[in-house]
Amino acid sequence: MKKAIIVGATSGIGNELAKILVQNGYKVGITGRRITELQKLHKNNPESYQVNSFDSITENNSEKLFELTEQIGGLELLILSSGTGDLNEGLDYEIEHKTNLLNVNAFTEITDWAFNYFEKQKKGHLVAISSIAGIRGSRIAPAYNASKAYQINYLEGLRQKATKTKKPIYITDIRPGFVDTDMAKGEGQFWVATKEKAARQIFRIIKKKKGIGYVTKRWWIVAKLLRLIPNGLYKKI
Ligand SMILES: NC(=O)c1ccc[n+]([C@@H]2O[C@H](COP(=O)([O-])OP(=O)(O)OC[C@H]3O[C@@H](n4cnc5c(N)ncnc54)[C@H](OP(=O)(O)O)[C@@H]3O)[C@@H](O)[C@H]2O)c1
Repeated sequence: MKKAIIVGATSGIGNELAKILVQNGYKVGITGRRITELQKLHKNNPESYQVNSFDSITENNSEKLFELTEQIGGLELLILSSGTGDLNEGLDYEIEHKTNLLNVNAFTEITDWAFNYFEKQKKGHLVAISSIAGIRGSRIAPAYNASKAYQINYLEGLRQKATKTKKPIYITDIRPGFVDTDMAKGEGQFWVATKEKAARQIFRIIKKKKGIGYVTKRWWIVAKLLRLIPNGLYKKI
C-alpha cells in the first residue's frame, strides 16, 4: 500500500485529494487544525486514514510529520495544501504576518522536512499547492501574492536540488486559478473550478510527476499573459 500525507486535509482541495488518494489505494495521513473534519474522513474509511491534527504555525511541523510517517508506516508522497491569505488593502500587519507564518515559514519547514526525508530514502514525491497569484504582485492581497511567489521560487530551487541527486525525487508545483473553496476571496472571479474538478486534475498531474501544473489547465494562458503585461501598465491595474 502506498503511503501519503496531506497537510491541510480538513477542507477544500486537500480534503478532495485525500478522498482521491484513498480511492486509488493509498494509506493517507491527514492533518490540519479542525480535528472534527479529519475524523469525518476517518469514520468513512478507518483503515485508509490516519488522523494527526496540528497547527502548522504553532507546532513543530518536522516532529509531527515524522510522527505521522511512523503511524502510516512510510512515505512516498507528501502534499502540502495548507494555506492562508486575506484581502488586505489596509495593510493590517497582523494579516500579513499570519499569512507569512503559514505560507512562508511553515511552508519552508514542511518542504525542507519532506525533501530531506526523500533524499535519505532515495525516492519520493513532494507536491505543494502554490497559486497563479504568485506570478505577479497584488495591491489587494500583498502578502498572499508575495508568499505564493516565494513558494513558486522555493519549489524551483528544490526541483534543481532533486535533479542534482539523480534519484527519483520529484517536486511538483500546482498553480490553481480560482477554486470554489473558502480561500477564493474577492470580486471578479472567473473560470472558477469546483474543488472536485481541481483535485481530479491535480491527481493526474501528480501521476505524471510533472514539475509544474496549472489547474484548471487553461490557467496557464493567464500565467503567460500576466508575465507579458509591462510593469508600467501593471502598476495601474
Ligand atoms: N481556492 C482557490 O481559489 C485557490 C487558488 C489558488 C491557490 N489556492 C491554494 O490552495 C491551497 C488549499 O486551499 P483551499 O482552496 O483548499 O482552501 P481551504 O479549504 O481554506 O484549505 C486550506 C487548508 O489549510 C489548512 N490550514 C490553514 N491554516 C492552518 C494552520 N495554521 N495549520 C495547519 N493547517 C492550516 C486548513 O485547515 P484548518 O483550518 O483545519 O487548520 C485547510 O485544510 C492553499 O495553499 C491556497 O492558497 C487556492
